[in-house]
Amino acid sequence: MIPTPEKRIADFENLGFGMFVHWGLYSQLGQGEWIFHHDPDHNMDEYKKLAETFTAEDFDADALVLTAKNAGCKYITLTTRHHEGFSLYDTKGLCDFDAPHSAAKRDLIKEFVDACNRHGIVPFFYHTTLDWYQKDFNEDFDSYLEYLRKSVEVLCTNYGKIGGLWFDGNWSKEDADWKEDALYATIRKHQPDAIIINNTGLVQRGEIGNPELDSVTFEQGRPTPMDREGMSKYVAAEMCYTLNDHWGIGENDFNYKSPCELIESLCACRRVGANLLLNIGPTAQGGVDPFQREIMRIMGKWMGLYGEAIYKGKPHPATCGNAKNFLLKGDGCLYVFVHDLGHGGSVHVAVNGECENDFVFRGVDEKIEKVYWMDNDEELNFENEDGNLSVYATNFPYGKSTCVRVAKAIIK
Ligand code: GLC
Repeated sequence: MIPTPEKRIADFENLGFGMFVHWGLYSQLGQGEWIFHHDPDHNMDEYKKLAETFTAEDFDADALVLTAKNAGCKYITLTTRHHEGFSLYDTKGLCDFDAPHSAAKRDLIKEFVDACNRHGIVPFFYHTTLDWYQKDFNEDFDSYLEYLRKSVEVLCTNYGKIGGLWFDGNWSKEDADWKEDALYATIRKHQPDAIIINNTGLVQRGEIGNPELDSVTFEQGRPTPMDREGMSKYVAAEMCYTLNDHWGIGENDFNYKSPCELIESLCACRRVGANLLLNIGPTAQGGVDPFQREIMRIMGKWMGLYGEAIYKGKPHPATCGNAKNFLLKGDGCLYVFVHDLGHGGSVHVAVNGECENDFVFRGVDEKIEKVYWMDNDEELNFENEDGNLSVYATNFPYGKSTCVRVAKAIIK
């Protein structure tokens, strides 16, 4: 038996597409969020001076939130504290290595949450568990864990309702007792509807951990289908992905992915019911990098045409000869995701039928009455007999996308 998802988990899955944001003191150095660790000196006394120049003068929470919203994202996961140990929020006296004590002199998380609420975007908090700033992390781990728990309590009690917490760093001390139960109990107490995630990192993708966790993570790798048979609780899945090869801004990292690859990744996630959390790394003082904003805008254009299929489509068991093509099941319809169409002419896409060309889907029981492209409403010819559905997919009109095209097949 596959367990039924609890409401908060079903709601999380329905968000579908989110924006990850890595921003901290490290952004001023433009070499990613691991720069302190990569510097052989590991000199925290030097590094912490970055707080004195962290003005956050370019941080416009509305602009950040609108970057996500215009891309079609329904939630944002922001680094409230990363491994460097600096908090973008007011820790209420727990540690003065925080935004109110920096040159910014303000609580940046409050601005973020308020902007999310203004624009109908769900705020999620990334929070490190590994800490390079706190000496207790190595010297008195239990006191460190209490500091971590209290920090999370501050986040759960000062910003109203939040979407969830996204932890990262337990992989740094694999054999330690992280006292996860106490941490998660604090969240459940103050934010009963919050999603709790703890990143399993690059090696243990998709691995299930503590029973309180609501989703598994796939860092930098497309999710495989989840086998939920016999699980005691339904857990969601989420892939997180960088636009280039850095989370925190890599100023001279030119290795950007193409919008087509990002769109295909989003589709590949939804194919298995997973969310995509696509990352941007704001500039030194918190501005949205123009190139990254532009990529997100292009995602938004594609979402404007086919977003309904991304939000509402659920995994469907049909398979296709061209392994990239797939179906999702919506309310009274199927969404037909077709990759690699050319310009002009037509291609025969067969669903569950015998067919001479590359596009053959198998395993469809639905009875279809009408099929049309979501981008221009053009009706497509189809055959639907003996459990077979063949769709004659016209190519993209000349001058249009050659990425993923989605048709809607209405069920009788
Ligand atoms: C890794 C990195 C971290 C990044 C995270 C995002 O765990 O340590 O820097 O925030 O991945 O998934």
